[in-house]
Amino acid sequence: MKRASLVVLISGNGSNLQAVLDASRNGTLDADVVAVVSNKAGAVGLERAKKAGVPAIVFPKSKEETREVYDARLADLVESYHPDLIVLAGWMRLLTMAFIGRFPKKIINLHPALPGTFAGVNAIERAYAAYENFEICSTGVMVHYVLDESVDQGPVIDQQVVPIEPEYTLHDLEAKIHACEHELLVKSIQQLVTQMEDGHA
Ligand code: GRF
Repeated sequence: MKRASLVVLISGNGSNLQAVLDASRNGTLDADVVAVVSNKAGAVGLERAKKAGVPAIVFPKSKEETREVYDARLADLVESYHPDLIVLAGWMRLLTMAFIGRFPKKIINLHPALPGTFAGVNAIERAYAAYENFEICSTGVMVHYVLDESVDQGPVIDQQVVPIEPEYTLHDLEAKIHACEHELLVKSIQQLVTQMEDGHA
C-alpha cells in the first residue's frame, strides 16, 4: 500500500506536527511527513521535524515581496515535495489564491474552535471569554479544507465538541483543546488517506 506524503506548514511550537509525526511512526497514520516548512526562523516545530529526520525549511517572507509573490514561491517549494496533502498546523500566515489555487482540495487547516466560530487568532481565549459571558457552554476543534482565502472556513472534514466545565481555567481549556486537536488532526488525515486509497479523493 502506498503511503501518502504530507507537507506540514507551521509557524511555532508544532505540537500538532508532533502528533502527526508520532502517528506516522507508530502506524496510526498511513502517511509520511516529507517536509516541514515554517515562515518563522526559530519555530520549535523545526526542531521536532529535524529530530524525526524530516527536512525542516525556514521560509520567511521578505518585506519587499508581495503576499502573492511569496505565496507563489512557497507553492513552488511545496510542490517540489509532491505532497498528497498539505497540512496547515499552526501556520499563522493568511494564504492567497497564488498558493491555494495551486493545490485544489489538497490543503487542510486545523482550527481550535467549531465551524463558523471564533475565526482568526486567539480562538481559545475568545471562546473562554464567551463562556464567562454565558454565551456558550462548549467549544471545540475542526479540520477543514482550504479552498479559498476565507479565514478558518471551508468544507468540514471532521469536528469535535469540547465541553467547558465550570472549574476550568483558560489554561485548562487550552490543554483540553490542544489534546483534542492532536487526535482530530491525525484522525482527519487518516480519513483522507483512506479515501485516496479507495479512489474517492
Ligand atoms: C493550534 O491551536 C492551531 O489550531 C492554531 O495554532 C495552534 C498551533 O499549535 N492555529 P502547535 O504549533 O501545533 O503546537
